[in-house]
Amino acid sequence: MPGSGYTYVCKLDALEEGVPRRVEVESVPVSLVLTEQQVFAIHDVCSHSAVSLSEGEVDGCTVECWLHASRFDLRTGHPLDPPATRPVPVYPVRIADGSVYVRATPRTAQ
Ligand code: FES
Repeated sequence: MPGSGYTYVCKLDALEEGVPRRVEVESVPVSLVLTEQQVFAIHDVCSHSAVSLSEGEVDGCTVECWLHASRFDLRTGHPLDPPATRPVPVYPVRIADGSVYVRATPRTAQ
């Protein structure tokens, strides 16, 4: 998608349901998650401490940080449990012709 602000990251069929995949989008670490028949892109650094959310567990539209078990909503980036209190940026995703594109500008948290 040249000129759209979206960057190609991978083929859709390279993603496994419920298994996060770490990618870099314009040098931003992003965790891509295929779940609930959608692809989500969330910043790949927990807001509580600098660990990778790609190593966490996916359950529905959430990913659980492996270190202290805060769950983040993949749609908004908001933490659902302590100890994390701050949201993690989430990024817009587009699918076209079997390919996944992400814009490295965070969506505004809702
Ligand atoms: S590092 Fe993620 S919840 Fe503590």
